[in-house]
Amino acid sequence: MSEFVKVACVGDIEPGNGITVNLEGTPVALFNVDGRYFAIHNTCPHEDGSLGEGILCDNVVICPVHAYEFDVTSGECLTEPAYRVEQFEVRVDGNDILLRQSSDV
Ligand code: FES
Repeated sequence: MSEFVKVACVGDIEPGNGITVNLEGTPVALFNVDGRYFAIHNTCPHEDGSLGEGILCDNVVICPVHAYEFDVTSGECLTEPAYRVEQFEVRVDGNDILLRQSSDV
């Protein structure tokens, strides 16, 4: 199983926003939902939009390219269920946000 890797600091993401981080070469969209952090693969499976640049509404991010909606807590695509994205495990350690690949992939 992969190790947790620091990708950001707590202050890097305001509540209700997301950023794109790099987890050992994998682009990951990291979101702050009311103080809780969630991470999904950054690449929209529709046509490669950057989900970390999408608009976050509660726990749903809207892809900036064609507005498909993804639940950031599960990776499910609410617009087209076949477009589920990979989820990553998130850990907060002090001021650090760490990620690792989910064990169920
Ligand atoms: S690229 Fe994301 S909805 Fe089309």
